[in-house]
Amino acid sequence: MALTEKQEALVKESWELLKQDIPRHGFRLFALILEIAPGAKDLFSFLRDTDEIPENNPKLKAHAARVFKLTCESAVQLREKGEVVVADTTLKWLGSVHLRKGVLQPHFEVVKEALLKTIGEGVGEKWSEEMKNAWGEAYDHLAAAIMGEMQVEA
Ligand code: HEM
Repeated sequence: MALTEKQEALVKESWELLKQDIPRHGFRLFALILEIAPGAKDLFSFLRDTDEIPENNPKLKAHAARVFKLTCESAVQLREKGEVVVADTTLKWLGSVHLRKGVLQPHFEVVKEALLKTIGEGVGEKWSEEMKNAWGEAYDHLAAAIMGEMQVEA
């Protein structure tokens, strides 16, 4: 399934906005993940020993930024090539990291819901059903590719 030019543009346009404040959106993403699935807290090394979500934790920011950025890149690839082509080792690596950390398939749905909500809040008036679907599709393909690698390795 390819993405249209319009969908790619919507994702890129909103990523440009979000990128300007990763700490804020990253914090919000994790707050929403834990709201939806409190049990996911212990998966993350930087949340395990605390009752609060750290405001300025580099690992938290890095994970959030990578989820945003790789989903955005996935949108570009889906438009250009019709499939997610993260460099092979990266996809393998992503699969093995998440397998090792004990991430399960339902967690990907949780992160999707939290991600779409975070983006919606982040872009404010620019948010639309179309933008939501574009991010949703890009994320679904990336998540499926990561889960596929997790299964290969498991
Ligand atoms: C680690 C990306 C979804 C949980 C990582 C890393 C990357 C990444 C790049 C490696 C960070 C590093 O070690 O430098 C992504 C992407 C996702 C995704 C692109 C979705 C498309 C998820 C989901 C969960 C999750 C659904 C579970 C709720 C984790 C955990 C780590 C990790 C626990 C290890 C973090 C730590 O404790 O330091 N992820 N991730 N990720 N990811 Fe994800």
